[in-house]
Amino acid sequence: MTLLSGKHVQLRRVEPDDYPAIQTWQNDPEVFYWMDYEHAFSLDDIRRSEERACTEGHPFVIVAEGRAVGRIGLNNFRSRDEMASLYIFVGDREVRGKGYGIDALMALIAYGFDVLNLRKIELWTLAHNERAIHMYKAAGLVEDARIPERSYKEDGWADHLVMSIDRDSFSRTRTSYGI
Ligand SMILES: CC(C)(COP(=O)(O)OP(=O)(O)OC[C@H]1O[C@@H](n2cnc3c(N)ncnc32)[C@H](O)[C@@H]1OP(=O)(O)O)[C@@H](O)C(=O)NCCC(=O)NCCS
Repeated sequence: MTLLSGKHVQLRRVEPDDYPAIQTWQNDPEVFYWMDYEHAFSLDDIRRSEERACTEGHPFVIVAEGRAVGRIGLNNFRSRDEMASLYIFVGDREVRGKGYGIDALMALIAYGFDVLNLRKIELWTLAHNERAIHMYKAAGLVEDARIPERSYKEDGWADHLVMSIDRDSFSRTRTSYGI
């Protein structure tokens, strides 16, 4: 069942039937590297992390072209600060680079401000993830801080960026995006 819609994608609840696809996506080297995961995922790991995501946050499957293509969600809720963190990956290689990422991102951020009444949404990204940072900036996120040498990758130490968006900045980008 669709819960949220962008211009091209829908976001729906994660179902147990999605777990094998999520396992494949999260173990795909391109997703694994950029999501900064540390260990390969078993199906049981996926089940446990999806169950935790449901109790601690708002996880969604991204649906495009009639099928599940990725995951997006909000977690790390801090009610005192009216904040949460977001994460996203388009797992299906066939549909990466078609603009579905930004569409899912806009729909999720709108949900965070309109329905969950958040004040601010934050994320961490590897500082050399140019594709993701381009997308985040297009949605209106700004760089708040750089965390040096945060992760050890196979090619050396990597910095992270902390990025965030508030309600006013989003109202400007959503008007020009048209959702
Ligand atoms: C990041 C991700 C969600 C983006 O979704 P997507 O649907 O593939 O996004 P697209 O590539 O269609 O669009 C992203 C934008 O970045 C641009 N872009 C693509 N590659 C780029 C690069 N190397 N440098 C800068 N910009 C780039 C695209 O042109 C597009 O911009 P536009 O809309 O202005 O044309 C997806 O690629 C993904 O899941 N990557 C692996 C996991 C990941 O990095 N997740 C984020 C972790 S913080």
